[in-house]
Amino acid sequence: MTSIYQQQLSLFMIVYIKLALTIKNANAFEYAHPKINQNILIEPHSIYAYPGETVQFPCIVSKQFDATVTWCWNDFCTLGKAQLLRHEATHDGLISIYQYAAYPKFRLSINERLNHYNLSITDVSDKDEGIFQCQIQRTMRAHEARSERVHLTIVAPPMDRPKLLLPIMPLKQGQSTNITCVSSPSKPASELILYKNEEIINSELSSATYVYELDKDTNKNVTKLIYTIDDPDSSWHNAVVKCKQIYEFANNPQLYVIAKLNVYYKPRARIESQNRSPLNVNSTATFRCIVHGNPEPQLKWFANSMDLASLTSPTINIPLSKHVHNHSIGCTAINSVGMTNTSIRLLIRYPPTFIVRPPKFVVVDLNSKSSLKPTILRCIVDSYPRSKITWHRYGEIIAKGLSFNLENITKREQQGIYSYRIETEGFETIKNDFIIYMKGKPLIYIQESKQYSRLFECQVYSSSPILRITWRLNDQPIESSDQLSISTTCGDYSCISKLVYNYPRIIPSSKTLNRLSCIGENEFGIDQSRLYQMNTSDDPTMILLSIILSTFILIIFFSAVAVYCCCRVRRIRKRHKCLNNKKLPVVYDEHYSINELIKEVGSLRTCNTSMNNTDKLSLQMDSTDHLLTTSFNNHNTKTVLDNLSNESSTNSSGFHSKSTTTIFNNEYSPRLPETVDLKFSGIYPLYTYHIK
Ligand SMILES: *[C@@H]1O[C@H](CO)[C@@H](O)[C@H](O)[C@H]1NC(C)=O
Ligand SMILES: *[C@@H]1O[C@H](CO)[C@@H](O)[C@H](O)[C@H]1NC(C)=O
Ligand SMILES: *[C@@H]1O[C@H](CO)[C@@H](O)[C@H](O)[C@H]1NC(C)=O
Ligand SMILES: *[C@@H]1O[C@H](CO)[C@@H](O)[C@H](O)[C@H]1NC(C)=O
Ligand SMILES: *[C@@H]1O[C@H](CO)[C@@H](O)[C@H](O)[C@H]1NC(C)=O
Ligand SMILES: *[C@@H]1O[C@H](CO)[C@@H](O)[C@H](O)[C@H]1NC(C)=O
Ligand SMILES: *[C@@H]1O[C@H](CO)[C@@H](O)[C@H](O)[C@H]1NC(C)=O
Repeated sequence: MTSIYQQQLSLFMIVYIKLALTIKNANAFEYAHPKINQNILIEPHSIYAYPGETVQFPCIVSKQFDATVTWCWNDFCTLGKAQLLRHEATHDGLISIYQYAAYPKFRLSINERLNHYNLSITDVSDKDEGIFQCQIQRTMRAHEARSERVHLTIVAPPMDRPKLLLPIMPLKQGQSTNITCVSSPSKPASELILYKNEEIINSELSSATYVYELDKDTNKNVTKLIYTIDDPDSSWHNAVVKCKQIYEFANNPQLYVIAKLNVYYKPRARIESQNRSPLNVNSTATFRCIVHGNPEPQLKWFANSMDLASLTSPTINIPLSKHVHNHSIGCTAINSVGMTNTSIRLLIRYPPTFIVRPPKFVVVDLNSKSSLKPTILRCIVDSYPRSKITWHRYGEIIAKGLSFNLENITKREQQGIYSYRIETEGFETIKNDFIIYMKGKPLIYIQESKQYSRLFECQVYSSSPILRITWRLNDQPIESSDQLSISTTCGDYSCISKLVYNYPRIIPSSKTLNRLSCIGENEFGIDQSRLYQMNTSDDPTMILLSIILSTFILIIFFSAVAVYCCCRVRRIRKRHKCLNNKKLPVVYDEHYSINELIKEVGSLRTCNTSMNNTDKLSLQMDSTDHLLTTSFNNHNTKTVLDNLSNESSTNSSGFHSKSTTTIFNNEYSPRLPETVDLKFSGIYPLYTYHIK
């Protein structure tokens, strides 16, 4: 019984000793081989190689001492036995080169110290292609590690140029179509670039798709580029499409193929000025309609929406006048695909003509309560560009716009001379005076004539007949004699009395200050002008002397001033010239600019303000009820005026006639081959064009 116990004890002790030894051993092992995380420090990369080359995939690792490193080829990881070929001594240490028995071209270069496990393949060929991977086996204490799966590809350059697959020509505008370019088979795939007239177009990703296919026969790659032309327009007509094939592993020239497209597209049309010299009064403007299209389009002209069907020549002649202002001239181009219209608008610069001219004499009756009392004066002109109208008193602007309200003219001091100005860009400003007269005593102005010496004028205004006009010198009435003559002429509501004297004999010698005044009388009473003071000297010789002296001084002064002014005026004129040119409207078109027209506008110097037809307007004033009536010779303007009177007077700019009467007498002659005249009735000065 005890022996069994002793046996058991000794067995237990042996087990204990063995266990203790193992633990000790394990500690010693751990000390010699520290635990290392396994990973691949330098991985292999895909390789493109020419047949016959030697390639090497590196694999430098960090691993447990007992882990093995293997290479897989096409996921086949047991390449079989490898036998040592030789050792090579390098400065990095000893390199052992092994050769796989089953694959003699596959060799391992191993540097144990640095953990290099490189795989090299000599004399590569298509058969060696595939996927390669380096792996570190799992051990008791570490996970396995794997490199990327990398390719070995044996390059095969394309043997031919690419091919363009085009749809049937002609292409039609608006119909989407595909252009396909197919590369010649190669390995790896070639790249394709598509050009339209030498401009790369396949960069627009939305309209280009790439497809890679494997050519079964040769086991090579084929690239297809499909480009979709969403809307083949005129820009594609006659466009040269080029497809270039680029293969990166060969120096052989880039191969390409080209083709020309043919597209049926909607015509395009534009109107171009053919005027080489500045347009003038009575001149005829020539325009050409330039059309493009495939098939070749037919051309037609129209004017203000009128179809001039038989006018098919590409040029049109338009006599310019005020009557063609704001008319549109257009041309239509038609082919089997569609129709395009283009038009220009002629804007003719013409000077202002009166439609409603303000009266020269306005009577305000402060006592009358009649509703017929004139409360608004109008100045309405027709011009292009529109005129700016301002109303003035003592040189200051008191109102703007085409009407002037008399509502606040309520005091006698407010009667007198007023004026209005009509300013029109490119034309001279028109400035006219008018009189506002408060019904009652006469309104009298006295002035010395600026043109003639020894002439005084007395202007007497009155709405009722003027009974008498008398002159007074130093409060003494004077009358016609052989030294002075007084003459009076009367118009509708004013008289002018002129006093011419034979200086100095009428001037009493005792007085140095002579006061001249003029007195008018009507049914409401008499009124006197302000006193005109004639500042004269007694002695005529003194006067003569001072005149000679002052003349002499003046001559010196003026010659100095003249020199200065000459230069200044020249400078101002120059500046004016520029200013005028700048102000003239610029001609442009949505699609293109017509430099010719701009030139013509720039050279316009016509400032014709002939207002001949103003005589046709006459003004009548009924002094009993103060109703302003205006009568016109021209019936058309009368209608315009009627329309106007309904309009509010707040419109601040000049009136522009909307009348569209009598524009065309279409007397063109379609037999002329190149140019055709389109005649408009009436000739007026022309000024500019504006293209819409
Ligand atoms: C393994 O390949 C790497 C990278 O190409 C290289 O630096 C190293 O020298 C090679 N080692 C051996 C033993 O061939
Ligand atoms: C053009 O190619 C695309 C594919 O890229 C296809 O969906 C489309 O139908 C093709 N269009 C024509 C007109 O062939
Ligand atoms: C070549 O074609 C094959 C099969 O379609 C494809 O897997 C491979 O990625 C292609 N190669 C290139 C470089 O496009
Ligand atoms: C324009 O033509 C009219 C009529 O033929 C003529 O009276 C006028 O003098 C011409 N004006 C100019 C500037 O040539
Ligand atoms: C073009 O002008 C012609 C003639 O004036 C007209 O009949 C047609 O409707 C116009 N077409 C377009 C697209 O404006
Ligand atoms: C030309 O006429 C059109 C209407 O036909 C009008 O809208 C436009 O304002 C006019 N332009 C000028 C400068 O008179
Ligand atoms: C007349 O004067 C009144 C008061 O000053 C003013 O409100 C009104 O706008 C004036 N009317 C005109 C037409 O100037």
